[in-house]
Amino acid sequence: MKYLTFALAKGRLAKKSMELFEQIGITCEEMKDEHSRKLIFVNEELKYRFFLAKAPDVPTYVEYGAADIGIVGRDTILEEGRQLYEVLDLGFGRCRMCVAGPEAARELLQHHELIRVATKYPNIAKDYFYNRKHQTVEIIKLNGSIELAPIVGLSEVIVDIVETGSTLRENGLQVLEEVCPLSARMVVNQVSMKMEYERISKIIADLKKITAQ
Ligand code: PRP
Repeated sequence: MKYLTFALAKGRLAKKSMELFEQIGITCEEMKDEHSRKLIFVNEELKYRFFLAKAPDVPTYVEYGAADIGIVGRDTILEEGRQLYEVLDLGFGRCRMCVAGPEAARELLQHHELIRVATKYPNIAKDYFYNRKHQTVEIIKLNGSIELAPIVGLSEVIVDIVETGSTLRENGLQVLEEVCPLSARMVVNQVSMKMEYERISKIIADLKKITAQ
């Protein structure tokens, strides 16, 4: 039997994914060592391999077939736009992609002003403003702490993830518009879906049962 390889987005998502997998009998003991710096883990008996990657790289590994299955946020899937099958909403990591800024920026959005938008997600922001809102904006790519941008005058608004809303609140910013809901998703390589159809569809069916879908 060939190994089935899983690419997991490093961090909270990977931990949650393994907890879920454990419930359907997909386990990996060597992954539980929190101090380990290993990047790839094997369950020899069940022929599973797991590796941890930076979230934006997970769709890349899956598209090229270096991983058969990936677990990653919908934000990353939309931003990366890779060729893969999105097969399941895992139901955790729920949050929203939003346009946010100071209250004063609400008017600029309503009047379709030419504004600057700072974001870690330029493709999602472009799609939202150009294709859905038909508003011309200047998009500025940042790599983190996006909430800083409107505070220091780099942009009028931001497009970013809002989970509890406390980062916005503590920085005097508000949700101005909602772009889309987000959560952790399972993605599958298009060739693997055919070649390993039985094993993969069993995993999907088992996960559906425990996530009540
Ligand atoms: C994310 C996101 C927001 C924050 C939202 O940032 O970009 O800044 O979490 O969460 P909240 O609504 O619960 O406050 P993350 O911590 O991933 O770091 P980043 O700033 O490097 O993107």
